Amino acid sequence: MNKRIAVITGAAGGMGREIVASLIRDGAKCYGLDISKEGLKEMGSTLGTEFVGIEIDLTIPEKILSSFQQIEDTEGGMDILVNNAGTCLMSNFPDVSVAEFELQMKLNFDSAFHCSQAAIKLMNGRAGVRKIINISSNGAYNFETFDSPHYRASKAAMDSLTKHLASTYAVDKISVNSIAPAMTNTPLCDILSADVLAKAIEKMPHGHLMEPTEIAEWVRFLASPAGDISSGNIIILNQGRDVH
Ligand SMILES: NC(=O)c1ccc[n+]([C@@H]2O[C@H](COP(=O)([O-])OP(=O)(O)OC[C@H]3O[C@@H](n4cnc5c(N)ncnc54)[C@H](O)[C@@H]3O)[C@@H](O)[C@H]2O)c1
Repeated sequence: MNKRIAVITGAAGGMGREIVASLIRDGAKCYGLDISKEGLKEMGSTLGTEFVGIEIDLTIPEKILSSFQQIEDTEGGMDILVNNAGTCLMSNFPDVSVAEFELQMKLNFDSAFHCSQAAIKLMNGRAGVRKIINISSNGAYNFETFDSPHYRASKAAMDSLTKHLASTYAVDKISVNSIAPAMTNTPLCDILSADVLAKAIEKMPHGHLMEPTEIAEWVRFLASPAGDISSGNIIILNQGRDVH
């Protein structure tokens, strides 16, 4: 079987690096899309030829198109897309500026939308069940946490896209799922004050944050043949915090 080609957005971040590492361990060649030139360079020097970094601002749809064109020109197609790029901007409603709102949606939702458009075309005619895995958030579902309204909305929109694509492409053997983690130990936690972070950790049933390696294992599972029969699911990972 030919090597599977995976594309991971936000590859140089806390979650992205572990997702890339786990997919490479499982035999995929990974293209990492990220705005961090330094992060991608560092990954390239440790991961070798199974990793290709593409420096890109994912808030610009034209750049997304040209990145996927580059992947098509080199590989002829792709098998796995992980829409992982995202951030959490923290202004409170109603004092969210237009610029902050637009950036939140562009990075968290629009980029996943445009990457999925490009990826579906590159998945056409490939063998086996192809995968789109969207990294959503518990914040779209748990309203007792600190998350901001535009962050929650960006992830809820992403999960609606997950279900739409899952139902549209099921017969084409493209499976689409969301993974929605709660607090995970990545540089994104730096947006929180020590006080807010401590309160959030207190609420985690295991008494500590989840680790990005744990989330990456779920991505690896969905991307593997074991994940072939799951599509249209929003998989909540939170140590059982919000079971009502
Ligand atoms: N860490 C958590 O607690 C947590 C919880 C739930 C969901 N998530 C989601 O997980 C995903 C990954 O987050 P993380 O915790 O690894 O964050 P992170 O900040 O460590 O990584 C984000 C990555 O996105 C990249 N990025 C930022 N802006 C970009 C742009 N315009 N173009 C291209 N790349 C850009 C950054 O360079 C970085 O490498 C996000 O979608 C986030 O919403 C995180």
